[in-house]
Amino acid sequence: MGTTSLRRLISAAVLLTHPWASLADVAFTHPADICSNSTTWKQTYDYIIVGSGAGAIPMADRLTEAGHTVLMLEKGPPSTGLWGGTMKAPWLEGTNLTRFDVPGLSNQIWHDPAGITCDDFPYMSGCLLGGGTAVNSGLWWRPHPDDWDYAWPAGWKSSDLVGATDRVFARIPGTTVPSLDGKLYLQQGFDVLSKGLAANGWTSIVPNDHPDQKNWTFGHATNMFEHAERGGPLATYLVSASRRKEFTLWMNTAVRRVTRIGDYITGVQIECGGPSSNVGTIKVTNQTGRVIVSAGTYGTAKVLFRSGIGPADQLNVVKNSTDGSTMVSSDQWINLPVGYNLDDHVGTDIEIAHPEVVFYDFYAAWDTPIADDKTQYLENRTGILTQAAPNLGPIVSKPSRGRRSLTVDELIIAAQFWEIIHGTDGIDRHLHWQSRVEGAKNTSMTITQYLGTGAQSRGRLTINKLLNMQATTAPYLHNDADKAAVISGLEKVQGYFKSISNLTWIRPAPNETATHYVNSIPATPDSRGSNHWIGSAKIGLDDGRQPNGTAVVDANTRVYGTVNLFVVDASIFPGMMTGNPSAMIVAASEHAAEKIMKLPFPKTIISKRRKGAARHVSPAL
Ligand SMILES: Cc1cc2nc3c(=O)[nH]c(=O)nc-3n(C[C@H](O)[C@H](O)[C@H](O)COP(=O)(O)OP(=O)(O)OC[C@H]3O[C@@H](n4cnc5c(N)ncnc54)[C@H](O)[C@@H]3O)c2cc1C
Ligand SMILES: *[C@@H]1O[C@H](CO)[C@@H](O)[C@H](O)[C@H]1NC(C)=O
Ligand SMILES: *[C@@H]1O[C@H](CO)[C@@H](O)[C@H](O)[C@H]1NC(C)=O
Ligand SMILES: *[C@@H]1O[C@H](CO)[C@@H](O)[C@H](O)[C@H]1NC(C)=O
Ligand SMILES: *[C@@H]1O[C@H](CO)[C@@H](O)[C@H](O)[C@H]1NC(C)=O
Ligand SMILES: *[C@@H]1O[C@H](CO)[C@@H](O)[C@H](O)[C@H]1NC(C)=O
Ligand SMILES: *[C@@H]1O[C@H](CO)[C@@H](O)[C@H](O)[C@H]1NC(C)=O
Ligand SMILES: *[C@@H]1O[C@H](CO)[C@@H](O)[C@H](O)[C@H]1NC(C)=O
Ligand SMILES: *[C@@H]1O[C@H](CO)[C@@H](O)[C@H](O)[C@H]1NC(C)=O
Ligand SMILES: *[C@@H]1O[C@H](CO)[C@@H](O)[C@H](O)[C@H]1NC(C)=O
Ligand SMILES: *[C@@H]1O[C@H](CO)[C@@H](O)[C@H](O)[C@H]1NC(C)=O
Repeated sequence: MGTTSLRRLISAAVLLTHPWASLADVAFTHPADICSNSTTWKQTYDYIIVGSGAGAIPMADRLTEAGHTVLMLEKGPPSTGLWGGTMKAPWLEGTNLTRFDVPGLSNQIWHDPAGITCDDFPYMSGCLLGGGTAVNSGLWWRPHPDDWDYAWPAGWKSSDLVGATDRVFARIPGTTVPSLDGKLYLQQGFDVLSKGLAANGWTSIVPNDHPDQKNWTFGHATNMFEHAERGGPLATYLVSASRRKEFTLWMNTAVRRVTRIGDYITGVQIECGGPSSNVGTIKVTNQTGRVIVSAGTYGTAKVLFRSGIGPADQLNVVKNSTDGSTMVSSDQWINLPVGYNLDDHVGTDIEIAHPEVVFYDFYAAWDTPIADDKTQYLENRTGILTQAAPNLGPIVSKPSRGRRSLTVDELIIAAQFWEIIHGTDGIDRHLHWQSRVEGAKNTSMTITQYLGTGAQSRGRLTINKLLNMQATTAPYLHNDADKAAVISGLEKVQGYFKSISNLTWIRPAPNETATHYVNSIPATPDSRGSNHWIGSAKIGLDDGRQPNGTAVVDANTRVYGTVNLFVVDASIFPGMMTGNPSAMIVAASEHAAEKIMKLPFPKTIISKRRKGAARHVSPAL
């Protein structure tokens, strides 16, 4: 069976089970005829969006709502059941649910990431429909005002984001009580910690009711789950987009690069069967078409590098790769600091034990769920499996210094708490503590301290000649005041927990100082990483093509030096936020959609370029 007929068949199956998709073209892969080198694909699109994650999905919805045609290209397979996903635990056979739908199975990504996580960089991620929002634990936070105000440029302050944020939370409110019976299950861990914090004068809040209260406050995990299923952008924005004839989505379709004549982007090239296979070219609408890259912090930088946009050292690496012979010529390269400003939450795990803490084996729930828990979930969407699962990977039985379990976001059934530390450099730093029931003992809780808003340290990501990406400079703790805040925050928590009777410290050990402990953990992604990568295509008013300029995109999210190329995802974030990032990325996308649609089109794009004015400088728009 040819690819085209296979595609039609699968498409038809999806349409049958999901009639709302009958207007849009939702397909598991691209049409085969695009991939013949000699054919020109006739259909053009007003917008081509690269990726389908937190940044991409709201954008597709807002653009199609306004009547623009949108082609969304996702390199990975479908995820949740709604979109034709089929990966599931044995006990989900015969249901419309996949492993991605059931919150209690969200740990599975750590056990079995093959074909789901991105294979071109070495950190956990989601390379499938929904991106990180398909595999993450769904933690969902309204940003603190400082998350915008500290580092974002004019037009992106918290007062500018009020409308966008309200629109996000109207569609995806999030919940602290995922189970449909309104109960929280196994909250002993929460109770132990929250009693201790309250005894020290801390305040209990419903976190998203008080986003501006992130100092001496604690509350329950808040997740984007809805109807005790994953929910989030895949279940809201993508559904409304797919009800419009303007929307086209091709999965299993990786973008290789954008095609351009100087500063004008004509479309994208896709890889038809792996990096060195045939390519297919799809064009944007003549004169007014635009490309939006939303491929995530690593994926976006990679597409830009392969398109001749970035620092010369990285473009030379691409030039020396299998891309070399077809890469845009060096006189058309756009020298921007793509890959610098890389950041991630600095994660510092501590571990305590308390006799009241009760452990749940979410990991066993894949093959042998406790029968009653399974039935409760399937029949009523109630019970422990409605809550996000922990990772119980091999590291857990023997946690050791410097080999932190890569599971910061997994299993959050316990307390979240916040403190703001006055930095030794005068800059406030936000600490978000996230606790989960896992560790060396079955009464253990691992608590991760995230260093967020105000953090100064940055890293750099680069590409190698196999076209794989990595953080060659990890972003963690190059700055003394960052490290001092991490240590001070830990010392304070050691103090607060003194009031919790029967609590024992596992990491740091009771005889170990916070300074000794923090210094003993390597500042590497394996040991400190949080999977909250941001910053590789920073937004800002200081054009990165100029000496000392740091920004890759302008305040309209347009790549400097281009007419019609945009970046909307975690890569544009200039600095770290307080909590887990996805809700803030969705809000940024809502806001960017407004800005992009308001942006006028230049009058003379094509005529100038057709005459060969390839190095033409963008008109001031
Ligand atoms: C295991 C894990 C748990 C997490 N838990 C939480 C949490 O609980 N709460 C929270 O807020 N955040 C969490 N995060 C972080 C959050 O999911 C990410 O910050 C967020 O998804 C990033 O959004 P994005 O749009 O920048 O990129 P992504 O969501 O990563 O989307 C990028 C998409 O682009 C696609 N893509 C990449 N390159 C190409 C290409 N060349 N062509 C076509 N498509 C391409 C990818 O396949 C992917 O689908 C977690 C992340 C991980 C990995
Ligand atoms: C599965 O079907 C149920 C019942 O029809 C529905 O409520 C639920 O939203 C569906 N879930 C998915 C992921 O399709
Ligand atoms: C198509 O083009 C690529 C380079 O762009 C080349 O490697 C490949 O051999 C071509 N395929 C055919 C069938 O011509
Ligand atoms: C694009 O539009 C311009 C201006 O209207 C026109 O001159 C040109 O022929 C068009 N190109 C294509 C490929 O349609
Ligand atoms: C290009 O690749 C060759 C062979 O792997 C290597 O020797 C050379 O140093 C590379 N050049 C650059 C600029 O990376
Ligand atoms: C599901 O809910 C119904 C109605 O409340 C109840 O009778 C039944 O026992 C529940 N099933 C499970 C497995 O909890
Ligand atoms: C945080 O709260 C503590 C306790 O009330 C207070 O001492 C500290 O100054 C506060 N920090 C900030 C930055 O407001
Ligand atoms: C805790 O672990 C021990 C040793 O593995 C086991 O014997 C015990 O049953 C566990 N307790 C609980 C409550 O799981
Ligand atoms: C502490 O543990 C002891 C014995 O294990 C128990 O008797 C006591 O009640 C516990 N105290 C608290 C406050 O939990
Ligand atoms: C803490 O005590 C343990 C066991 O006595 C010992 O091995 C370890 O070196 C001590 N650590 C520090 C930092 O003193
Ligand atoms: C760039 O920064 C350096 C070091 O801070 C400074 O000496 C130089 O004057 C700056 N150049 C421009 C053009 O601002």
